[in-house]
Amino acid sequence: MSDDVLIRPACPADVEAMAQLAQELAQQPLLRRYGATPAGLSAELTRLAASPTERGEQLLLVQAAGPGRLLGLARFHPSGTFAVGGYLRLIALLPGHQGRGLGTALLRAVEDAVRAHSRALFLLVSQDNEAAQRFYARRGYQQAGCLPDFVRPGLTEIICWKRL
Ligand SMILES: CC(C)(COP(=O)(O)OP(=O)(O)OC[C@H]1O[C@@H](n2cnc3c(N)ncnc32)[C@H](O)[C@@H]1OP(=O)(O)O)[C@@H](O)C(=O)NCCC(=O)NCCS
Repeated sequence: MSDDVLIRPACPADVEAMAQLAQELAQQPLLRRYGATPAGLSAELTRLAASPTERGEQLLLVQAAGPGRLLGLARFHPSGTFAVGGYLRLIALLPGHQGRGLGTALLRAVEDAVRAHSRALFLLVSQDNEAAQRFYARRGYQQAGCLPDFVRPGLTEIICWKRL
């Protein structure tokens, strides 16, 4: 990962930058087909940034150094999944910033945060998102089964998990 990028928790001052990030992410086909909208995603991110709690859902941001723009995010629950696990709800980089190691660094930061509370991290990945499946597999995630029509009708999710 390049030195000119910062990974940090979201804070209330990020509202405007998060609205811009939400606007760009929600336009991606992957998120659109799950019903994401710029306004809806922006409102959810604002809520998460406004009231961070140690055990509630958390939001990490990838930011270009200085007062730079936001390049991506990860939202996750540090505990409460199958009693002993955390749950990665979404990890996404802006299209122009994928494939540079940022996702790897962001996933590592999520794992470090979850490890303090849980002994495993779970996530769901779309069955046809083969690039993301490879990304997780190369980082130690195993597939544990499928959930057809679980999040949206017609889409199958693969359950992945890693011992931390
Ligand atoms: C999946 C994602 C978070 C990975 O982050 P990234 O910064 O692109 O990945 P990195 O540069 O750290 O690592 C590159 C690895 O990811 C894989 N990869 C997955 N999606 C990729 C993409 N769109 N572009 C480039 N590499 C991608 C590469 O094959 C490479 O694998 P390898 O290191 O095993 O050879 C990111 O590509 C992304 O936001 N994709 C769109 C949203 C998405 O699919 N999120 C996951 C939902 S479950």
